Amino acid sequence: MERYGQRGRSPSTVAVIGAGHVGAAVANALVLLRTCVTVVLFDRTRARAEGEAWDIDDTTPLLHEIDVLATDRFEDVAGADVVVVTAGTSIQKGQSRLEILGRNAGLIRDVMAELDRAAPEAAVLLVSNPVDVLTRIAMEASTRDERLIMGSGTVLDTARLRYQLAKDLGVDHLDVSVHVIGEHGDSEFPVWSGTSVGGVPLEDFPLPEGKALSDLGATCLVATRRRGYDIFERKGYTNFGIAVAACQIVESILRDEKRVFSVSVRAPEAYGIGTDVVLGLPCIVGENGIEQKLVLPRNAEEQRLLEHSAGVLGDAYASLMRGQG
Ligand SMILES: NC(=O)c1ccc[n+]([C@@H]2O[C@H](COP(=O)([O-])OP(=O)(O)OC[C@H]3O[C@@H](n4cnc5c(N)ncnc54)[C@H](O)[C@@H]3O)[C@@H](O)[C@H]2O)c1
Repeated sequence: MERYGQRGRSPSTVAVIGAGHVGAAVANALVLLRTCVTVVLFDRTRARAEGEAWDIDDTTPLLHEIDVLATDRFEDVAGADVVVVTAGTSIQKGQSRLEILGRNAGLIRDVMAELDRAAPEAAVLLVSNPVDVLTRIAMEASTRDERLIMGSGTVLDTARLRYQLAKDLGVDHLDVSVHVIGEHGDSEFPVWSGTSVGGVPLEDFPLPEGKALSDLGATCLVATRRRGYDIFERKGYTNFGIAVAACQIVESILRDEKRVFSVSVRAPEAYGIGTDVVLGLPCIVGENGIEQKLVLPRNAEEQRLLEHSAGVLGDAYASLMRGQG
């Protein structure tokens, strides 16, 4: 297979591990958004990878020339600049979160061992759930620099909240600066104290007639947290939103854009929650992966919420280790 250069230079190759709903949507978005020149779609079931890759490849004569290759061999991932990991099982009826965590943890360890052999220089973006704990497992399993491993964290959750808040305030979502941080899951929360709209702190921003800030915040947060469940209830999985979120993170790495995303990383000491836990926190993402972890100012209540979220993830990790010990 033809191979291309290094991060920060084009042309570039992105490998996607897992060609299920999410993996196929990521590969498709990479093509539509012209994120790279080669997409390698890997699945343990070759026919699945081929079916999706060939279907996506059929869009290229209609759009632009991007190679979409299917494989079930890790050797074909060699030379990838970025690898997006979407392989894994989702929760089925009657299964506990921990059961699924145990299965996916083993899978992620195996995938990271293969990637360390085939593409040791690549940046790795984990999407498989539960993404924060699996990113920690990937960091522990891999020999590559930890800055090159991150999870999709609360990037989509932040985008959902930003969009909802902007709609409610009647402004463009690009003018809202807000971060949802913590677990990608029920204990995530927005850092309202640092939220601003067009440079104006949220608490000083003129609200629409008859709206109170507390109600507005609560409604936006519920909508953000429920969104994934609402989609899941109706179609059985989510894939398009997370696919574009993943592509934007990949783009920031490939083009060294240094965009700020709340990706899953180990907490820096300044957050006061230890440095082992991995959770969604704002980071500058560029050609070296995590270029810098940012420390958000937060009030006492936000610190309590962060500690709670870190506790939830710490407990999940500890249960996993006990179960496998
Ligand atoms: N982080 C997020 O915001 C987010 C959003 C949606 C889904 N997800 C997660 O993404 C993962 C994938 O979801 P999906 O809907 O695509 O599932 P899916 O069942 O449709 O696809 C999973 C794919 O992984 C493949 N696979 C399994 N083990 C593999 C291995 N060892 N090597 C290579 N491929 C392997 C399967 O063959 C399958 O094609 C799940 O863990 C899901 O919870 C995360």
